Amino acid sequence: MSVRSSIEQATKTMMGVLSPSEGQTDILDTLQAEHDEVQDLLQRLSKSETAREQKSLVNQIKQALVPHTKAEEEVVYTPIAALSGEKAKIDGAEGFTEHALASATLMQLDSLTPNTPEFKAAAKVLKELIDHHVQEEERNIWAQVKENFSDEQREQMNRDFLTAKKRVKVA
Ligand SMILES: [Fe+2]
Ligand SMILES: [Fe+2]
Repeated sequence: MSVRSSIEQATKTMMGVLSPSEGQTDILDTLQAEHDEVQDLLQRLSKSETAREQKSLVNQIKQALVPHTKAEEEVVYTPIAALSGEKAKIDGAEGFTEHALASATLMQLDSLTPNTPEFKAAAKVLKELIDHHVQEEERNIWAQVKENFSDEQREQMNRDFLTAKKRVKVA
């Protein structure tokens, strides 16, 4: 974002016209904030010792992760996979595959009784999957986004991402 548009956005935000997550925000800033949130929840889940808290954390992870991954597939992975280079196509396909694995593990975790060895194992696997996925995504996918999309396109991607998230229903 240019200095001028940053100032314009800050002014609009202060005036209450825009929330900080709307307008001219770069999609990568939104994705970063959401990754931090989910990784923090997974870290808390790994340390939690009560069934009640574990159940609440799984629910919070589901509410955060499901819209994020679905909207990310639509607004980020699909355009990346459509780029001409083979590296971009592989990075996009790898992202889809890891999302499917995370989604299956999250469903399994959600079906298990909290505070049991099986639950703790599934929570550990989900955390490992997400930590790995986020690290690769922030390195490979974001490099593709920076290389192939302008500041304006990334701001439009952010608006599309927030709209796409609202359409996702979480059970
Ligand atoms: Fe992500
Ligand atoms: Fe992702």
